[in-house]
Amino acid sequence: MSVKVTIDGIAIEVEPGTTILNAARQIGGDIVPPAMCYYSKLKDSGGKCRTCLVKVSKGSEKDPRPMPKLVASCRTTVMDGMEVQNITSPEVIEARKGIVEMLLVNHPLDCPICDQAGECHLQDLGFEHGAVKTRYEFDRRTFEKIDIGDKIQLHMTRCILCYRCVFVANQLTDHRYHGILNRGDHSEISTYIQHAVDNDFSGNVIDVCPVGALTDKTFRFKNRVWFTKPVEAHRDCDHPNCNGKVTLWYKGEEVLRVTARKDVYGEVEDFICNTCRFDKKKTSDWVIDGPRHVSHKSVISANHYDFIPLPVVKSNPVLIEANKEQFERETRL
Ligand code: SF4
Ligand code: FES
Repeated sequence: MSVKVTIDGIAIEVEPGTTILNAARQIGGDIVPPAMCYYSKLKDSGGKCRTCLVKVSKGSEKDPRPMPKLVASCRTTVMDGMEVQNITSPEVIEARKGIVEMLLVNHPLDCPICDQAGECHLQDLGFEHGAVKTRYEFDRRTFEKIDIGDKIQLHMTRCILCYRCVFVANQLTDHRYHGILNRGDHSEISTYIQHAVDNDFSGNVIDVCPVGALTDKTFRFKNRVWFTKPVEAHRDCDHPNCNGKVTLWYKGEEVLRVTARKDVYGEVEDFICNTCRFDKKKTSDWVIDGPRHVSHKSVISANHYDFIPLPVVKSNPVLIEANKEQFERETRL
């Protein structure tokens, strides 16, 4: 038995227990709420960042009352007959602007020197919803520098406390040496008595981090991502949990970095082991599959990603009107 949910005027039938966010992903296009902490491959992720807020204007067929507050779509399951507004609700767009402003309160605006620039979900959100000026007058948070090993670089000031890296360490590796310590605005990613984060799958924290808090030390400052050439490749990896399917990022003949392959929502398709990621940087290590085609749109992705037209918004004048500002920005990308 399936349940019917309508999101921004588009109806879809989904399995009971599906979240609003995943129902929206089944429709696809512009009506999919952004997600900074939810990660479909990581159990229990979501519910931390509030970027996926939506308005439930009708609770269900049985109880049509609207929900009193905006809800996190990654944590709210659909009910039969539910009606949801995302980009058709000015209230949601306004709230999202507020969330972006809050995420940026302590986040340094160091995109020009950050290795994540061009692939950063916060940069994209800031571009779509951010205010031009900050209203924040206090000093931003600063942290003692912590060295978490020779492969992964931690910039705590950029962390938005999404917990994805903690879930990676819990769910993919044998031992978790890092976590979020302290509470409130003292919360920080840290390692227990300065353990290096080092095990077969630890490099995946780099791929899941939505911002530049965890970056690849072996790629650090080597190049801007938009000057590199992404190519899909695979190898016969002997690690039982790694299928060896990766993206190689070339500059000329040189492989500058290796990452897992990512989908349209910026999530990795399959997690990869550290040997594939850090130790196989020669073309001869790989069988090349061809150029990378990813539809993920980003601030600086013009040369790398296929632009898939946004079918829902483009074909619906009401949606265009409802979210003109965002639509205009997206068509400029
Ligand atoms: S370091 Fe990155 S992945 Fe980990 S909690 Fe912070 S933002 Fe999330
Ligand atoms: S993606 Fe839903 S709260 Fe972060």
